[in-house]
Amino acid sequence: MVKIAPSLLAADFSRLGEEAAAIERAGADWLHLDVMDGAFVPNISFGADVIASLRDKTSLFFDVHLMIEEPIRYISSFVKAGADLITVHVEACRDVAATLAAIREQGVKAGLSIKPKTPKEAVLPYLSLCDLVLIMSVEPGFGGQKLIPETLEKMHLLKQDIQNSGASVLLEIDGGIHAENAPLAIAAGADALVAGSSVFKKADYAEAICAIRGQDA
Ligand code: DX5
Ligand code: ZN
Repeated sequence: MVKIAPSLLAADFSRLGEEAAAIERAGADWLHLDVMDGAFVPNISFGADVIASLRDKTSLFFDVHLMIEEPIRYISSFVKAGADLITVHVEACRDVAATLAAIREQGVKAGLSIKPKTPKEAVLPYLSLCDLVLIMSVEPGFGGQKLIPETLEKMHLLKQDIQNSGASVLLEIDGGIHAENAPLAIAAGADALVAGSSVFKKADYAEAICAIRGQDA
């Protein structure tokens, strides 16, 4: 079954611990944590200390999405903070292979992300070095945007490349996912769906997660 990864970026920042606990009770599979540095993306969110402070509030799998330049500098900080998966951007790394290796060497799963305009070919050389590819379906930096439809086709083609390569790599899609387009993302090959606004901006988180899964609450 598809994994639902609510993005804490859309939560109430004054109550992050409670929000993380509430989303676990509501049936989330993973907690998606968007780290932004104001350089790779035109926004600043939170860093490793905030993530560390949430680690004892929930047992959810921490899916950490680093939207930062040269993330290799900070891998050990995010590992110490309790990340289970660390995803870096192919566009942000001088040495992608070394960055993915640094993540795996520290016992954490490694993810590689591409922005909407980056071709899928950019990740192909690294399939054996990562556990997940994150397809950005909006320009990274902000929640609440509309999914760019071409990214679904890109994910679908990448799914075929992954299957042909024999690598065991999950596909995650991030940005503008809601109950109406989730079936399209799943049909295009998504194993995990990030959902910010369509979960945390709803009154009933459990109902919102069920709706994205295509189930009744
Ligand atoms: C955007 C982030 C996303 C974002 C998704 O840069 O990577 O994870 O929070 O938010 P929604 O679901 O509102 O598009
Ligand atoms: Zn994200």
